[in-house]
Amino acid sequence: MRLTSLPPSFARWGRAALALCGLAVLPGCDFNFWRMDGHQTTMVTAGPVAKSQLDVFYVTVWVTFIIFILVGAVLAYATIKFKAKTEADEHAEPPEQSHGNPLIELGLIGASILALVVIAVPTLKAIWYTYDVPEELRENAYEVTATGYQWWFKFEYPNEQIDGAGTLVTGNELVIPAGRPVRVNLRTVDVIHSFWVPKLAGKVDMIPNRGNHLWLQADEPGYFWGQCAEFCGESHAVMRFRVIALSEEDFAEWLAAQKAPARTVAPAVAQAGALPQAQFASFRRNEYGFTDKWDANAAVPPLEHWRQQQFPAKDEDAALIAEGRRLFVEKTCAGCHAIRGHEGMGITGPDLTHIGSRTTIAAGLLENNREQMARWLKHPEVVKPGNLMYTTGYVANNVQLNDAEVNALVAYLESLK
Ligand code: CUA
Repeated sequence: MRLTSLPPSFARWGRAALALCGLAVLPGCDFNFWRMDGHQTTMVTAGPVAKSQLDVFYVTVWVTFIIFILVGAVLAYATIKFKAKTEADEHAEPPEQSHGNPLIELGLIGASILALVVIAVPTLKAIWYTYDVPEELRENAYEVTATGYQWWFKFEYPNEQIDGAGTLVTGNELVIPAGRPVRVNLRTVDVIHSFWVPKLAGKVDMIPNRGNHLWLQADEPGYFWGQCAEFCGESHAVMRFRVIALSEEDFAEWLAAQKAPARTVAPAVAQAGALPQAQFASFRRNEYGFTDKWDANAAVPPLEHWRQQQFPAKDEDAALIAEGRRLFVEKTCAGCHAIRGHEGMGITGPDLTHIGSRTTIAAGLLENNREQMARWLKHPEVVKPGNLMYTTGYVANNVQLNDAEVNALVAYLESLK
């Protein structure tokens, strides 16, 4: 029997069943699918704000699911019960039409209102709760300012003063203390962006000339993925960032390391293999099981990878780094990027004082390693179409980089731990 001779409904059901099997099998490769976990999931939360938002989602899902079941059951009942069963039924006159049953109508209106109230109460509560750090937690709250640029995020720490250099500024990786509420002021310098860390808090827009804010909290130390969630131009989809939550002790240590001016690699230091900054000592506590024989290809938990990234590479080449530092000025990079303590003075691009300690580059798009950094420096316009480093930097200043120059710049940037 050929498939085409089957009744059409059979084939339709077959296709539907196949599609369902496909749905079940394909994601079966990824265990996390069944937990609905992933980098940017909202279904597995890591803090109270995201949790309260997930709770609202579930309330809504359950209410609508119950409505679906009830309506579906009534529909099925009516379809079966009042089906035309004989030839005569099919040609019968429609029954006499009535105005309806006032009791049923009132009942349905009442049920709809009840359903809306059941959804509205927790929704309103969550809106108030997530709007700003709750009164009772405010004393313990930490404050940062996130500013959207086409296409990257600047993070400022208004309470972290650096002698003679204003406040601490980083880019694209927001480091916060775990277990503490963090108020994030949201700003933009150009168009509307939206700040979203799915596991920590829902999105809030960064709107020109308007001071928005949100709060979030990571209950445990962790590494979280963030994303701009408002269309903001050509490279909107690749405008990403990370949030790294550290224990109070590690956070204090990180702040101290970040407040230090850019690291200078002297040949003697590199040869001795000494760590140039003593304050990294406790990052080495090995709490997360990393060893010095860390394998770059091994699947390492992201937070551990982040810790690894805080250390200078073992094979630093002081001469190459010095050449990179010179090129950073010669190729006009210094006009847009600040490198505190070195020559970089610009403010239109991300602060690069400690770029080497970040896990990502190009606004969370590429892993921060030699290969990717070289790729980014060589062809930023390919990695991130329309970006200003290319248009107002490379093109406007006629910047050309050969492989040797890229190599030196990579070595220099990598050394900025
Ligand atoms: Cu910024 Cu989309």
